[in-house]
Amino acid sequence: MHSYTLIAPAKINLYLEIIGDRADNYHELAMILQSIDLADEIELGSISTDTIRVHCNHPQVPTDQSNLAYRAAELMTTQFPNTFAKYGGVEITITKRIPVAAGLAGGSTNAAAVLVGINLLWKLGLTQSELEELGATLGSDVPFCVAGGTAIATGRGEQLSPLASLNNIYIVLGKYKSLEVSTPWAYKSYREEFGDSYVRDSDNLAVRASAVHSGEMVKAILHQDAKEIAKKLHNDLEKVVLPAYPQVLQLRETFASAGVLGTMMSGSGPSVFALCESQEHAEEVKLQVRSATKNDDLELFVTQAIAHGIQIAF
Ligand code: C5P
Repeated sequence: MHSYTLIAPAKINLYLEIIGDRADNYHELAMILQSIDLADEIELGSISTDTIRVHCNHPQVPTDQSNLAYRAAELMTTQFPNTFAKYGGVEITITKRIPVAAGLAGGSTNAAAVLVGINLLWKLGLTQSELEELGATLGSDVPFCVAGGTAIATGRGEQLSPLASLNNIYIVLGKYKSLEVSTPWAYKSYREEFGDSYVRDSDNLAVRASAVHSGEMVKAILHQDAKEIAKKLHNDLEKVVLPAYPQVLQLRETFASAGVLGTMMSGSGPSVFALCESQEHAEEVKLQVRSATKNDDLELFVTQAIAHGIQIAF
């Protein structure tokens, strides 16, 4: 087969705790990540020239080397030069549905799809954990995007430990189209404001991060208890993003007054999600938030938790 169409799901953070600084200048994190059925479609095919070509239907998405999907293909060409020479270049067509620069790992999941797709296209026989390892060199969220489902992520976010998948969790997601938050800015601001409370020594960093494995959120997930999960939602980055972006705070408050189970910003934002009792409840909340906000810039999606990462489209 000379082309594949892959489904690349977005993620939300049910939990994001910043533990401290790492020697590599990143932050040691304890996160719980969840794939959702809001997804991009990635078409991947071989071309006769030895180049990488990226096309995307979204005007804000670059098609050059600054696109993580491009960099994923480039990584495969340098890792496997002989196979690259045999199969030729790669053409990547991205159909964007995930809002960009939203804290939903849109770029990371596209990169994950390219790794999975090239593994198939070039018949490399790489295992999922080998793909995750390659993904970690591109970005902290890429390994999770390869695997997907529900997982604890520690270290930079690349050390994964899968959890029982969540069923029947319905979510409303909101993002102002014109609003973007820079992830490096969010972490840098957090370090400036809260760096004094960071755990410093490397042994303690790992011990503190591993506490999440037996924490309250994990218990709620193992119980499949949406109400408890909603109560335990946590994201340290809200402490810097909400004060700097009043629209995000307001959206969170609008969700809270619409009677959702719980609401939280995802990743470094600015998207905000809310957990709901059922699909009908989620549709109702979406309508309520739409009429309370009356701003065309706000995109709203009803979505749900899913148990997978990258898949081949049916
Ligand atoms: O790994 P990724 O490229 O997605 O990270 C984007 C930025 O987020 C990094 O450049 C860094 O500023 C910040 N970050 C961090 N600690 C992490 C993950 C990300 O400080 N564990």
